[in-house]
Amino acid sequence: MSKRDFTNTGINTRLVHTGNDPEDFFGFVNPPVVHASTVLFPDAATMAGRNQRYTYGTKGTPTTDALATAIDALEGSAGTVLVPSGLAAVTIPLLGFLSSGDHVLIVDSVYHPTRNFADTMLARLGVEVEYYDPMIGAGIAERMKPNTKVVFTESPGSNTFEIQDIPAIAREARARGAVVMMDNTWATPLYFRPLEHGVDISIHAATKYPAGHSDVLLGTVSANERCWEQLRQTHETMGCCAAPDDVYQVLRGLRTMGVRLERHEQSALEIARWLETQPGVAQVLHPGLESFASHELWKRDFSGSSGIFSIVLDGGGTEQAHAFLDALKIFGLGYSWGGFECLAVHVQLGDRTIAKGEYGGPVIRLQIGLEDVEDIKADITLGLAAAAASR
Ligand SMILES: Cc1ncc(COP(=O)(O)O)c(C=O)c1O
Repeated sequence: MSKRDFTNTGINTRLVHTGNDPEDFFGFVNPPVVHASTVLFPDAATMAGRNQRYTYGTKGTPTTDALATAIDALEGSAGTVLVPSGLAAVTIPLLGFLSSGDHVLIVDSVYHPTRNFADTMLARLGVEVEYYDPMIGAGIAERMKPNTKVVFTESPGSNTFEIQDIPAIAREARARGAVVMMDNTWATPLYFRPLEHGVDISIHAATKYPAGHSDVLLGTVSANERCWEQLRQTHETMGCCAAPDDVYQVLRGLRTMGVRLERHEQSALEIARWLETQPGVAQVLHPGLESFASHELWKRDFSGSSGIFSIVLDGGGTEQAHAFLDALKIFGLGYSWGGFECLAVHVQLGDRTIAKGEYGGPVIRLQIGLEDVEDIKADITLGLAAAAASR
């Protein structure tokens, strides 16, 4: 193994060491944060030849290269582009691979802003948008049309956490000529590696666990060999580059993501199992629980679970959901998860057309943070008591 070859090492070794090479910058462990628009050329011939390593701020810097290289090492991808948010990491590849007259299949349990983008902008551009059941598996073959160019997956699904049969979907979609994309934000490349399961393009809101501190927005899009050049060109054409300080913060976050995720996973599983025994909780929607409908798929394909899942309260409606939320003292009420702290939100499933999930009570999504488990349980107990008292 050469000194900087971490391909056959464990995932935590890769998290700590990949990206920049300290020898490239005087031995400093971390790469420089390069703030750049203009890049100078030594002479006119080099300028005309355009084959200097760096040519323009939008096209990459040593800082963006460091993070993109680290993500490639984690995803096993041919290349990665960095964009200003997780939502941009969804919209850029969709724009890059869809044209007017194409058909796109999107999982019905998709992150709501992805659906909004498809229903508004993609529809306006003349793309036919269709949603499919997250449990469709190989049945995706029946939904494919000659003009289906992209199959978009997200597993687990947002808020209700259905695990998709990604290998079966990817096999059928690719056999019919479509590009398969996956929003892999929940698992991170530590717990699921989409490209190894037949996916072409892996998407992350690096805002969540990679950044890890609720203070940075960033997206990464990683492609296999067959899709990389088209993705790279799309990114360059759109000028949708990420800011250097944010890129640096995400690289910094990656170094500790392994230990943070281990803690999120352990605490979330312990709390999910405990919640299954609590009065007032009808159901716990966590793929790592044996009771969860698509648990077997999770067990087959994933190597871990992160810190976000949902509970279904035992009856009631908005009043009970709000009583639960308003009683919480440690949990913040907020949307963007993946930081260090506990968060809760009353989930709305009104946009669904297939995976409507006829749940018997309000669905509350919980992000389990790095706080002490006993304190988190005590806080949830306050919420459950308040929900019960409001009946
Ligand atoms: C699954 C998923 N994908 C993408 C995003 C978008 O990330 P960002 O907030 O960075 O735009 C989110 C944000 O919550 C998400 O949950």
